[in-house]
Amino acid sequence: MTRNHYWRLDQHPVGHDFASALSLQEETPAPLAEGEVRIAVDYLSMDAGTRLWMTGRTDGYQPPLPLGARMVGLVLGRVVESRDAAFAVGDLVRGFGQWATLATVVPAMAGLEKLDDSVPDIRQHFGTLGLNAWTAYIGVVDVAQLLAGQWLAVSAAAGSTGLMACQIARQLGAKVVAIAGGERKCRYLREELGVDLALDYRKDDVAARLQAIDGGLSAYFDNVGGPLLDAVLPAMAHYGRIAICGMVAGYDGDRPLPGPARFDQILMRRLRVEGFFIPDNLARGESFPQVLRDWAMDGTLTMPFDQSEGIEQVLTAYGRMMSGANIGKTIVKVSA
Ligand SMILES: NC(=O)c1ccc[n+]([C@@H]2O[C@H](COP(=O)([O-])OP(=O)(O)OC[C@H]3O[C@@H](n4cnc5c(N)ncnc54)[C@H](OP(=O)(O)O)[C@@H]3O)[C@@H](O)[C@H]2O)c1
Repeated sequence: MTRNHYWRLDQHPVGHDFASALSLQEETPAPLAEGEVRIAVDYLSMDAGTRLWMTGRTDGYQPPLPLGARMVGLVLGRVVESRDAAFAVGDLVRGFGQWATLATVVPAMAGLEKLDDSVPDIRQHFGTLGLNAWTAYIGVVDVAQLLAGQWLAVSAAAGSTGLMACQIARQLGAKVVAIAGGERKCRYLREELGVDLALDYRKDDVAARLQAIDGGLSAYFDNVGGPLLDAVLPAMAHYGRIAICGMVAGYDGDRPLPGPARFDQILMRRLRVEGFFIPDNLARGESFPQVLRDWAMDGTLTMPFDQSEGIEQVLTAYGRMMSGANIGKTIVKVSA
């Protein structure tokens, strides 16, 4: 039988030192139980939100993984064995599985979905057709309620969720300030994506640059939290909306980020601040928005990939994403 290679969480990582905390294991997979599906993984998605599951925090949106558990993440691949009548061998699927060459899941628990196999590059199921794109759409359209002509700021703007938020906002006719780390990313955002303003939070005075925007920011798509949220709050327009998508600045530690020092601005500017979480949509059985699918299929939206090769490269890929080396979606090609 084909051997399985998987990553096991042995300890809570400190900072970006993942090599000391996770180890690559090998096994002969157990026979499938009733209701399970086994997937030969083609690609693994590296997601910043999964960093929280590696900590001991019990106050996150999902419980942490116990030490000794297999690391969980989004997988894209083909069913190779099935004891669930809804999934057949050969189906192209995506869901929450393990960081492994063979992922074994219970479809309902994994949010397992059958995918359109006619998409020319199946990686797009992690890209413009992926959950980060859907997250961006919900944040920009439903939560931030962005309208044409308004200004939106996006943090971690060159990452997979941020890039999608910038592009969707531009499609809606809004103006976009993209905030990202480093000149390479800012140049990409300006020259390739055509954002109106790109700010390097490591170098620029973000607070001052945002406050110079005429009329203020109508909306903020926040992927980061922490000091950047404080830089944005005094630049918001009255009755602005803040869509809290993520708080990556606080995922490394065992303690939550402190609240914003400029919390007062929520009252002074009568802001609405709302957190949202895409697996809620999956749990409610909602489906990927048609307009987003159309933009993905006709090339309106683009997603570059930061791709590594081989299951043994997973921690390097993950570290690249968490330290901001990526532009776009960080993935690992697992199958040969
Ligand atoms: N609510 C939801 O349902 C949902 C779903 C998907 C993703 N998310 C959130 O979206 C955010 C992005 O996730 P992703 O998976 O798409 O990853 P990503 O943006 O592709 O990669 C993470 C990026 O975060 C930035 N970053 C890391 N540490 C930072 C810090 N201390 N300060 C500022 N920026 C920092 C880095 O870019 P820089 O070079 O710019 O620092 C890095 O490229 C995360 O907060 C995640 O939790 C939320």
